[in-house]
Amino acid sequence: MIFVFIEQKISALPKVNEQDKKDPVDLSPIGVRNWFVGQNLPRPPYEASFRLSLLSQSGGQEKPHFFDACEISEIMDKMWEKDKDFAQRMKYSALLHDIGKAGPVLATAEEQKAFVGLFNLVFDKKEYNNIPPRDLTIKKALAIKVAEGVLKHSQAVFILKKINESAGKSDLNINENSRMADFWSAHVFWSVELLDFLKIDETVVEIVSGHHFLDGYGPDKKQEVLIDQGKASLIVADQYQALRRRGKLSHEKAVEILTKKVENKLANDLQNRELFLACVQKLAKVKNMIN
Ligand SMILES: [Fe+2]
Ligand SMILES: [Fe+2]
Repeated sequence: MIFVFIEQKISALPKVNEQDKKDPVDLSPIGVRNWFVGQNLPRPPYEASFRLSLLSQSGGQEKPHFFDACEISEIMDKMWEKDKDFAQRMKYSALLHDIGKAGPVLATAEEQKAFVGLFNLVFDKKEYNNIPPRDLTIKKALAIKVAEGVLKHSQAVFILKKINESAGKSDLNINENSRMADFWSAHVFWSVELLDFLKIDETVVEIVSGHHFLDGYGPDKKQEVLIDQGKASLIVADQYQALRRRGKLSHEKAVEILTKKVENKLANDLQNRELFLACVQKLAKVKNMIN
């Protein structure tokens, strides 16, 4: 049976478009594992495939997170096409980088669903009742989404209950009174924790650990991450994809914003600034990645 899975090649990356709605890629946990094999990538452990499968489900407001990861992996492929082995490693890192959005390593399947549900919520206003989104507590944030009609009351109750139940299972102790900013940033820690636990290639874990360096936090919420070309390219591609998809910006505008962000954030860090700017320039030359 396993042989059949390996033989079954699925060549196209999952994409959010009309064609895929007609001809959907199998995004069950086993489907996800097959899909990696079809990409000539290592088959992820079942636990990882299960989480990626959860992250491939749409949350209504937001496109599924796994589709973002697929697009970022496509960008990695184009950026590193002259170095096939490195491109494969970067693609694999891109596909797994946000796996912690399904919560801590010890979270049950239901708790993982609750974390994915909370990550699916979009807070793009500057303030909600005079509170910036990052300072909302999880409890308050869910109440807002119920009031907006985005979530049913029963869904919010489920999410709150499950997140509270999972609180003792992680060093980060996220619960209903945690700030949304702490919840959002926790996913880096949970990605690293899970990939370590699953004994994923340590260079992949290292690349994933730095993927929010430009936002000012690593897995332990400190910025103590050594940056190299691989990490910088994943960070740049992650942000580029978000600007294109969620920000609905053109290639040129996204590149311009990224350049400014790097110049501002790393104004006093010459070495990393040069490294990031080189990555943005490399990315700028790769067109037609996102339609
Ligand atoms: Fe992330
Ligand atoms: Fe991401």
